[in-house]
Amino acid sequence: MAVVGATGALGSLIVAELTLRGAHLLVVGRDADRLAALGTGVPVVADVGDATAGDAVVAAAHEHLGGLDGLVNAAGVVAFGGLVDTADEVVEELFLTNVIGPLFLLRRVVPLLEESQGFVLQISAVVAERPMPRMVAYSATKAAASAVATALRTELRRSRVDVYDVRPPHTETGLASRPLAGEAPRLPAGKDPAAVARRIVDALAAGEQDLGADSF
Ligand SMILES: NC(=O)c1ccc[n+]([C@@H]2O[C@H](COP(=O)([O-])OP(=O)(O)OC[C@H]3O[C@@H](n4cnc5c(N)ncnc54)[C@H](OP(=O)(O)O)[C@@H]3O)[C@@H](O)[C@H]2O)c1
Repeated sequence: MAVVGATGALGSLIVAELTLRGAHLLVVGRDADRLAALGTGVPVVADVGDATAGDAVVAAAHEHLGGLDGLVNAAGVVAFGGLVDTADEVVEELFLTNVIGPLFLLRRVVPLLEESQGFVLQISAVVAERPMPRMVAYSATKAAASAVATALRTELRRSRVDVYDVRPPHTETGLASRPLAGEAPRLPAGKDPAAVARRIVDALAAGEQDLGADSF
């Protein structure tokens, strides 16, 4: 399996949980030192916004795993603030990281997943179901990611590739304190990141492909 966004809060917890359950992983992220610090998995340094990231994942999968039986995408960025005050570059970056890059990646890895009858798991978010003011572009990216998963699930049914869309509610990972722009609104206390990561890996083990915000 490959975990993209492996150095992130949810990504690293998912890596730990999958490792505990015996998975052999490619850990994909932007920083070689932080990937090495995970202490597990074969590191693949790649930026999701770069169309060649998928080529690097495919090459590493062939070299180290002899194929690929799953892809988890836990990479993502957020931004806050009114739409009028959100710079064009921020809107672009949100869509590049959360939607366009993942589509580039999927185009490249799906053939391997078809060979293994594997899976794709995309973390979208509660805002895909309930879009929020002052998160207009972020909500739109997550709704798009969710739409990709729903359509791809049907498209790949005959190939027996499962496509998971998980939409966690607000979780205390610190993501809201690292926005591309703007300031997070006051949010109620979020979920425990370890519990959310465990719930996601449990869903994967149970074949629960559509995991809405209320399931956490
Ligand atoms: N926390 C929440 O409340 C919440 C709720 C619902 C959904 N989500 C979603 O869950 C996912 C994980 O979020 P998190 O809370 O774990 O936040 P996080 O700790 O900030 O993790 C985000 C990850 O995305 C990676 N990333 C960002 N831009 C990238 C790029 N261009 N190329 C490669 N990697 C990139 C980051 O890489 P670096 O490690 O290199 O920075 C980091 O590993 C995101 O998609 C987020 O939208 C989060």
